[in-house]
Amino acid sequence: MTQTSPITDPVDLAKRRAAEQAAELVQPGMRIGLGTGSTAKHFIDIVGEMVKDGLEVACVPTSEQTRAQAESLGILLTTMEETPGLDLTVDGADEFDSQMRLIKGGGGALLREKIVAAASARMVVIADASKEVKTLGKFPLPVEIVPFGLTATRRAVSAAAALAGCRGTITLREREGRPFVTDGGHYILDCAFGAIPDPEALDDQLSRIPGVVESGLFIGLAKAVIIADTNGIRILGSLT
Ligand code: A5P
Repeated sequence: MTQTSPITDPVDLAKRRAAEQAAELVQPGMRIGLGTGSTAKHFIDIVGEMVKDGLEVACVPTSEQTRAQAESLGILLTTMEETPGLDLTVDGADEFDSQMRLIKGGGGALLREKIVAAASARMVVIADASKEVKTLGKFPLPVEIVPFGLTATRRAVSAAAALAGCRGTITLREREGRPFVTDGGHYILDCAFGAIPDPEALDDQLSRIPGVVESGLFIGLAKAVIIADTNGIRILGSLT
């Protein structure tokens, strides 16, 4: 699949290559979850090109940003209500490890991304090689919370994290001096733990806190990660 204006940035080129590989999984009639972020954007562009060439698919966007892009490309959109089961979701990640555990939510779309991924027969992650880590946590973990009780919830997140062996600064995400508000009307705490020694334990601890909506830890959801760099493509997991 060729793109109209050539990509010169090597990282962006890697994202495009990973997206092209994922696009080979797309079949006519599929119900597809469309991820969010600069890597998923390439995948959506390619699906848009395929739709122009006659492909018929129905897609669920994981954010308003993705919805706008998909609409502008003429991609048929559906909702989780109309289409509660999806065949394939393709999304980016902020970090992934060798067990395909992910950190997501850098763009603030983690809740819808997780709902869509969980409702999909297959979630395939596309990423440039810089996202691969030995231990998750260098990227601050986004935790989506309800605005009510923010300070109490932040404290509870800190205490829960300590029980899972994580310590670090927990910051309320802001945009233009005000709390960043997600598509679902929630806030995000960015948790700079540096390392998350036991992601399952942390996810479990965080899920017990009443004010926490979801964490950006995606565990057991990705079936494959398509990793691209200047040397080519590598696959973790299975694409079939
Ligand atoms: C959006 O909330 C995120 O989960 C993105 O999928 C993630 O941040 C990856 O984005 P990039 O592809 O822009 O790095």
